[in-house]
Amino acid sequence: MEKKKSKTALITGATKGIGYELARLFAADGYDLVLVARHRDLLVKVKEEMLQLHPGLQITLLAQDLSLPGASLEVFRKTEKKNIPVDVLVNDAGIGDFGKFYTEDLSRISALLHLNIVALTELTRLYVKPMVQRGEGKVLNVSSVAGFLPGPYMAVYYASKAYVISFSEAIANELEGTGVTVTTSCPGPTKTGFQQEVGSENSFLARFNLLFSAREVAEDAYRALHKGRKIEIPGIINQALVGTSKLLPVKVKAEIVKKLQEVNRSDVLKGNK
Ligand SMILES: NC(=O)c1ccc[n+]([C@@H]2O[C@H](COP(=O)([O-])OP(=O)(O)OC[C@H]3O[C@@H](n4cnc5c(N)ncnc54)[C@H](OP(=O)(O)O)[C@@H]3O)[C@@H](O)[C@H]2O)c1
Repeated sequence: MEKKKSKTALITGATKGIGYELARLFAADGYDLVLVARHRDLLVKVKEEMLQLHPGLQITLLAQDLSLPGASLEVFRKTEKKNIPVDVLVNDAGIGDFGKFYTEDLSRISALLHLNIVALTELTRLYVKPMVQRGEGKVLNVSSVAGFLPGPYMAVYYASKAYVISFSEAIANELEGTGVTVTTSCPGPTKTGFQQEVGSENSFLARFNLLFSAREVAEDAYRALHKGRKIEIPGIINQALVGTSKLLPVKVKAEIVKKLQEVNRSDVLKGNK
């Protein structure tokens, strides 16, 4: 008997944190994978690990810096050339910033905007079209609770995540009836390398161990994706935060976020003149 054709999930940011945990979940369900991140050595390590657990999966590695212009198109062309139809697109890769906006490095701002916004939008555009033509497909865009708030000292990151929510909700609506769904996951602070990267590993939430694990966030997003939910916020505390924030004036929200950012991080901000 002919083997049933597996579905394929393309996951950006698949070597660490939430993206890595999502890749594990797709692999456990028998999905073939296309894994995208910058560092090839880590991609190879993840592939070996997945194949040991689930022999027989087709795993394609694309070492690509998605913050560079043209990178999304290159990823798309490579999957086309290899004749890999992408059934599920997961836009997980994202970076943050921290500091007073006017002191931030211009190249970091540009890379953040390109990765968190441009690459996510382009990949969605490129892969959704063939999904609509096939009459089925799923997109998971990883935003954040940050996307519901103004974020002093992480202004560009918070704004980028607001874009992801607005964009994803709009196209989820447009795509109704096509067989293609778009789910946006909005995690709160999560224990991953991201915290170290933006210097928030000593933040209030981290110190009191209030952070979710990457696995918990991935499992929540994975369930939401398969139910075709539009917006998913993991955890009652994060849901309450977002619910309450909708009742507060913007000025108050900005002041609260600012105070939370300042806890244990005044040393970083002091040097930021
Ligand atoms: N951690 C949190 O507290 C938190 C909370 C809410 C939302 N989020 C969101 O969740 C997503 C994943 O975050 P995470 O905490 O799991 O991150 P993470 O642990 O830092 O992992 C980031 C992943 O993205 C890849 N990546 C980074 N820059 C890239 C680039 N320019 N091109 C291609 N791949 C790139 C990394 O691999 P390489 O370095 O090899 O490229 C890695 O696989 C992000 O969109 C983030 O904004 C995180």
